[in-house]
Amino acid sequence: MSLTHMHIRTYENTTPPRSKAHKAIQYGSLTVTPVLQNENSVFGAEVSGVDWANPVPAETVAQLVALQDEYGVLIFRETGLDNARHIAFSQQLGKELEVNPFYYGRENDRLGEPLLFDVGNIELDGTLVKMDSRRWHHSLGNALWHTDSTYHQHRSKYSILLSHGNPVKGGSWTHFADTRRAYADLPDSKKKDIDDLIVEHDLWHSRKLASPIVYGNPLPHELAAKPPAYHRLVQVAPDGRKTLYLAAHAKLILGRSLEDSQKLIWELIDHCTQPKYVFSMEWLSGGDMVWWDNRQSMHRANPYTETMTARDVRRSTIIDDGPLAYGVSIEERMAVERKTPNTTDP
Ligand SMILES: [Fe+2]
Repeated sequence: MSLTHMHIRTYENTTPPRSKAHKAIQYGSLTVTPVLQNENSVFGAEVSGVDWANPVPAETVAQLVALQDEYGVLIFRETGLDNARHIAFSQQLGKELEVNPFYYGRENDRLGEPLLFDVGNIELDGTLVKMDSRRWHHSLGNALWHTDSTYHQHRSKYSILLSHGNPVKGGSWTHFADTRRAYADLPDSKKKDIDDLIVEHDLWHSRKLASPIVYGNPLPHELAAKPPAYHRLVQVAPDGRKTLYLAAHAKLILGRSLEDSQKLIWELIDHCTQPKYVFSMEWLSGGDMVWWDNRQSMHRANPYTETMTARDVRRSTIIDDGPLAYGVSIEERMAVERKTPNTTDP
């Protein structure tokens, strides 16, 4: 099966009702309000009590990391952070931040900052992204369920998305799915089937799925900037529970055909993104910020529309420094490929 014959994948904008707020919990000086909660699991929390006007003390950072390990997604309202403080906080969470590979110098970048990714809808000249431009089509892939940077062999652990300006209420959402709880709920036979699988992730695969005409053949500099990467499908999350490491970037399962790979990958993504595992964060004010753990969640944006208003959101991405940071080695990959020759499509 060639990619051009695969179904285009898109999602509509969704404006779900606000999740019922759960009881706030006091955690030292922090107040934590879980978003999704059942008897076995919590996912997502709104956190207040951080003094963002000053550098965040090391003990508060440690408390926040502990909360992040437990909840997977942390939401902070009206932080007032600027680019420099956004970056400074991100650098407290890991040794290295991702550098935007499409940063072409201060005068060609709206943010003028290589450690931030401009993921809003505003062009350098202040106008909104034009419909059917290459950037518009690139953004369609962000509306598919995904995990940031799975297409990097040295992957990233956290993303921190910060809103600037004033988002229009009711118009701006980011959606999150709990891959730990979704894995735990799989039948044992399925877990056994998938526990040892290795997946090839390719940014250009998700771009093609969302926009096959424009991204059927990515440009040479695009391909060179983002070659594919290999990671285990089932991994251990920071809290010790198993989780699914999945994304729309997931293209092939080593040893299987493209068709069989896509069938299983989307069966699992559909499983993970059932309403019981998902919540949607509404962007309410400038300064709102969401910090998520790419090792134990999936997310997606709402797609651009013709009636959208300006949305200025900027992302820092913190590179993984944990034991699974580098994914699957070439030796491991070759061993699987040697065992199962000629099973993948050219
Ligand atoms: Fe993303």
